[in-house]
Amino acid sequence: MKSLISILDLSTEEIDELIAKANDIIANPVKYQDACAHKKLATLFYEPSTRTRLSFEAAMLELGGSVLGFSEANSSSAAKGESVADTAKTVSCYADIIAMRHPKEGAPFVASQNATIPVINAGDGGHNHPTQTLTDLLTIYREKGSFDNLTIGFCGDLKFGRTVHSLIEALSRYSNIKVVLISPVELKLPSYIKKDVLKAKGIPYVQTTSLEEAIPDLDILYMTRVQRERFFNEEDYLRLKDTYILDTAKMNLAKPDLAVMHPLPRVNEISVAVDSDPRACYFKQVLNGKYIRMALILKLLEEASK
Ligand code: NCD
Repeated sequence: MKSLISILDLSTEEIDELIAKANDIIANPVKYQDACAHKKLATLFYEPSTRTRLSFEAAMLELGGSVLGFSEANSSSAAKGESVADTAKTVSCYADIIAMRHPKEGAPFVASQNATIPVINAGDGGHNHPTQTLTDLLTIYREKGSFDNLTIGFCGDLKFGRTVHSLIEALSRYSNIKVVLISPVELKLPSYIKKDVLKAKGIPYVQTTSLEEAIPDLDILYMTRVQRERFFNEEDYLRLKDTYILDTAKMNLAKPDLAVMHPLPRVNEISVAVDSDPRACYFKQVLNGKYIRMALILKLLEEASK
């Protein structure tokens, strides 16, 4: 049973196919409106979410399928002590595919080992978020036309930001990528990702604390929120939360074709004034998230029926 736990579960060819499928869905939505008729998606969310859960649900509804699930752990039997493994076995009796978000790293993997239907990781702790990465890749493709020869800046909480971890893994497969890591010293990209991904694949990268100094060279700026819920103490969060605020003054230093991305939710790190700049892509990214999840649900259900 094929599940999607890490972005590395997909080959480069499969990612290309998903992007092509999402582009076809965008161009011909009517063609897909009954593609998942009588199929059910279960969204099992043990952590807060707006976009990820609703885009999964909207995706399944637009494919003609139905959705069921829960949006907080307390409203499921997890509150009574049920294991993720047992929940996965149970939901396999009611649905055809699962999207799961969980605060514990590895929980969706455990679910995938116990379910008899495909499981999609919709975010596991500070670890991975492969469907956000597919969303980001579709956005980069639609904005830039390819993944090669790009200088990509990641700014903010690179330590706990799971979307950053998954996107760096995905981009490391393409050629001539340069990465600029912009963060406070306390929130630097974990060394295992630098070693296993950037260094292992020979991708040039620099680390800096200055967004102003980095921004003029960037083709893509991927902003992130400081991940309050992963901090061990509130004081550190309060000290670090407003380290970077992208505003119009900083946008004036950037290339005319920069693409500003953010997985959202935004807190303070992008000034609302930037939203009307044509280089702001984060709300387009939200919409792309629905289309790429449509493509992914179609693919996994098709494979499960083989
Ligand atoms: C991200 C997440 O949950 O990791 N949000 C999302 O899925 N769009 C980013 C975040 O919470 O900061």
